[in-house]
Amino acid sequence: MVANVAEYDQVCVEFEGRETLSIPHLELQAARRYAVVGPSGSGKSTFLRLTNLLEKPAKGQMRLFQKNLPVKGYSRSEQLELQRQMVYVSQKPVMFDISVFDNVAMGLRYRNLSKVEINERVEAVLQAVRLTGFTDRRAVSLSGGEAQRIALARALVIEPKLLLLDEPTSNLDPMNIEIIEEAIHQIYKQIGVTIVMVTHNLQQARRVGDEIIFVHQGKVYQKQERDQFFDSPREKEIEDFITGRMIY
Ligand SMILES: Nc1ncnc2c1ncn2[C@@H]1O[C@H](COP(=O)(O)OP(=O)(O)OP(=O)(O)O)[C@@H](O)[C@H]1O
Ligand SMILES: [Mg+2]
Repeated sequence: MVANVAEYDQVCVEFEGRETLSIPHLELQAARRYAVVGPSGSGKSTFLRLTNLLEKPAKGQMRLFQKNLPVKGYSRSEQLELQRQMVYVSQKPVMFDISVFDNVAMGLRYRNLSKVEINERVEAVLQAVRLTGFTDRRAVSLSGGEAQRIALARALVIEPKLLLLDEPTSNLDPMNIEIIEEAIHQIYKQIGVTIVMVTHNLQQARRVGDEIIFVHQGKVYQKQERDQFFDSPREKEIEDFITGRMIY
C-alpha cells in the first residue's frame, strides 16, 4: 500500500469567525501529482497554507507524514519539524535582495550541508530551471518569469517530500511555462516528490496532475483521477466549472 503524505478528515479553517474552508475527506499519496482547480476566491491558496501549517484548522483531524496533528494544537517545534519536509511556493514569489545563488541556497544553509554539496545542488537546480550563469545576479533585478523560476529552484533544491505550488506559472509566457513544467517533471521523476499545484489553466491541470482536486465556495471536493475528472465529472459543480458554465 502506498503511504499517504497528508490526510484530512472533517477539517475546517475559520477566518475572522467565518468558515473559509472545509475538507470533508481527502488523502494525498506519496509520489503523486495533484492539480488543484477552482474559481478565484474559492479557497485554493488557503488549502495550501493549511497544509503547510501556516493556517491552523479550527476543527477536524489532519495527518502529515504519518503523524497526527494534535487536536489541541501543535507547538512551534512540532510545526517546524513538519514544515522542514515540505515547501510552499506562494502565489507571489518573494525575492530577497541578495544574489540569485544565495536566494536558492537559503534553505540548504539550515541543513548542515557542506559547501561543495550546496554548490552542486544549486548548480543542478539552476540548470533545471535553465538559469545557469545567473548565480551572481541580484535577485530583485530579475524579470517576472525569471523570478518565478528562481522561486521554484529555491523550493526544488531542498528535495522536499511534499511540494506545494500556488499558481507557479500565472502571468507567464509559453516558454517560461514550459521550463517550469519541465523542471517540476524532472524532480518528480528524480525523487518521487508529492506535488500539489494550484492552477487556473485547465490544460495545465491535465498535463501536470495525475489527479485533480476541485475547490469551490470554500469546500475541497474529493479528488478524482484526471481523465475521469474531465470526461465524466462526479459532481454537477465540476461539470459547470470545466465547461465554463459556472457562474460566480
Ligand atoms: N488569512 C486568511 N485565512 C483564511 N481565509 C482568508 C485569509 N485571508 C483571506 N481569506 C479569505 O478566504 C477566501 C479564500 O481565499 P484564497 O486565497 O484561498 O482563494 P483562492 O482560491 O486561492 O483564490 P485565487 O484563485 O484568486 O488565488 C477568500 O474569501 C479570502 O478573502
Ligand atoms: Mg490563490
